[in-house]
Parts: sequence; C-alpha cells; structure tokens
Amino acid sequence: MREPGGPVNDATAAEEPRGDRAAGAAGRPATIHTPVLATEALGLLAVGPGMTVVDGTLGGGGHTRLLLDAVGPTGLVIACDRDHAAIERAAAELAGRPVRLAHANFCDLPEVLDAVGVPAVDAVLLDIGLSSDQLADHERGFSFESDGPLDLRFDTSEGEPAWRLVARLRPESLADILHQFGEERYGRRIARRIVDARERDPIRTARQFARVVTAAVPRQHPPPRIHPAMRSFQALRIAVNQELQSLSIALERIPQRLRPGGRLAVISFHSLEDRIVKQAFLGAQTWERLTRSPVEAGPEETVRNPRSRSAKLRAARRIG
Ligand SMILES: C[S@@+](CC[C@H](N)C(=O)[O-])C[C@H]1O[C@@H](n2cnc3c(N)ncnc32)[C@H](O)[C@@H]1O
Repeated sequence: MREPGGPVNDATAAEEPRGDRAAGAAGRPATIHTPVLATEALGLLAVGPGMTVVDGTLGGGGHTRLLLDAVGPTGLVIACDRDHAAIERAAAELAGRPVRLAHANFCDLPEVLDAVGVPAVDAVLLDIGLSSDQLADHERGFSFESDGPLDLRFDTSEGEPAWRLVARLRPESLADILHQFGEERYGRRIARRIVDARERDPIRTARQFARVVTAAVPRQHPPPRIHPAMRSFQALRIAVNQELQSLSIALERIPQRLRPGGRLAVISFHSLEDRIVKQAFLGAQTWERLTRSPVEAGPEETVRNPRSRSAKLRAARRIG
C-alpha cells in the first residue's frame, strides 16, 4: 500500500480502440453493470453536441455510452479506469465511436489529457467505487462468497493485494483501517480475531475473510440489512486502492483542466467520499454548486437497481 501523500499512479497511456483488441476480447462477457443516476448526472453536466467530456470511471461503459450519444459524432469522450478489464471490454465494444480510452487513475487526469492532446474539457463525471462486473469476477475477491484470492485491487498491476495486508498488518493497524474506512464499530474485535485466525491458517480467500469477520461480529436482532462483513470488505478495498486519496487529489486537479463554466459531477456510495466531495465544492473561489444537498435515486430506480440505494450525486460548475 502506498503511504498517504505518496506519489500517484503515473500510468497514463491513452489509446484508441483497435480492431485486434476487439477480436481478442470477443470472448469477454458483456457488462452486467447498470449505471446509476444516469439521467440526473447527464442533466447536471449539461453535455451537448460537439463537447469534449471525461468519464473518469468507465466501468461497464454505461455512462460513457450516454455521454457519447450526448456529444454526438463531432464530440469526444475520454474515458479512464484503473481496471484493465474495463478498458479491454470498452476497446472492443466502443470501436469506431469518438472515444479515447486510458488505463489510468482519474487523479492523473491532467496527464491523460496531455497524452491525447486535449488542453481542457467541458465536463467530467466520476462514478466512484466498485462495478457489478468487478463484484461478479470471483478471481478478484470482491464478493463474500468468492473462493478466489482476497485481492480487492482495481488495478492488479500495482500495489498490494488485500490478503497480504491481512497477513502482515499488526492488529492496531488493521483495526484502524476497519474503523476509519469501514466505520466498523467492532474494528478492534474483528482485528483480534483476524490475527488469531491467521496464526492457525493463512487467510487467502474472500470467503475465509468473510467467515472470520462474521464470527467476530456480535449477532444482532433483528439481523441487519447488510452482510456482517460488508464494512470490513469496504474498508480493506478503500485501503488497498487508496480511494479517498485519489478522490481528494482528483478534486484538487480537475479544475485546472475544466473550461470556465465547465461542470463536474461525482456519484459516491460512501459517506466518507460524499463528505470529501461536499467539502471540495464549498470552495467558492473555484466552484458554483449545482446541488445543495446530494441527489439520490428515486423509488423506481432503487427497485430496478438496488445498488443505487446508497448513491449520492453532487455537481458543481467551475467559476470562470
Ligand atoms: C461504479 S463503477 C463505474 C460504472 C460506470 N459508470 C458504468 O456506467 O458502467 C466504478 C469504476 O471506477 C473505477 N475506479 C475506481 N476508482 C478509480 C480511480 N481512482 N481512477 C480510475 N478508475 C477508478 C473502478 O475500477 C470501476 O470500474
């Protein structure tokens, strides 16, 4: 894991979709991710024909496709993701459309734009967190029932997999991660159980980790709506990907590359992330807020796509 304040990812290669990649990815399963708050986000971004816009979190490409439709054939969408699988899928599926893809962290947006020769853009969308495709990939360890390694990295080419953190961290550091990034009230207790369990048998898979955490959390009546290990998974994922750090850096750097009047919309799924976005948009020298309180999914969307229940959308306009 990189230390807080350490160097950011410098992988910024931007690439055009290529025919040979499309052929190579032919066997890749289609995305199962449904974009959240799509109409609301597109509306707040006010994207129109001919614009140049960024989707900082490509994922399954749902928002990217809507942005492509909105900018039309004379516009351009630059889409990044830390996950190679997302880039490969989009390279195959979006070939021929006005899109440039970058395997990059959105906090490196200025470098991505330099690589494609774009000085400034009209709008940026960040839909942060985890995609349903990542959750369904049992080799990545995002799901509690996965027998694959507890990896939890968005970009498996850098950093440290979660199982290694679980194997090496002292109980105090583990408890801090669970408490700080998962807001887990039983953090110390879970950390002690992890240390006891790993002495008997190394914790390598997501299922093993979920079992240890579940056994450490007191039973509640009535049972809570969320899985007892949900907060611990979230905490580890945020830690291995340094997610809060990437978001803070991105919010500082994006205004440098937004045209005056350009718009930024951020969809987050975690109270810590929403707090960071809310704070950033209070910077009255830089931003005019377009949302006082966050926009949330309505009843129709939450029924259709339960994942949207915890989504919060905030948007702001760069002051000229
Ligand atoms: C919620 S999904 C995005 C879904 C997408 N909007 C769609 O409609 O399919 C989040 C995606 O952001 C990526 N991601 C998370 N943090 C990132 C970061 N700092 N930089 C770039 N991509 C990131 C994840 O790998 C994941 O694919």
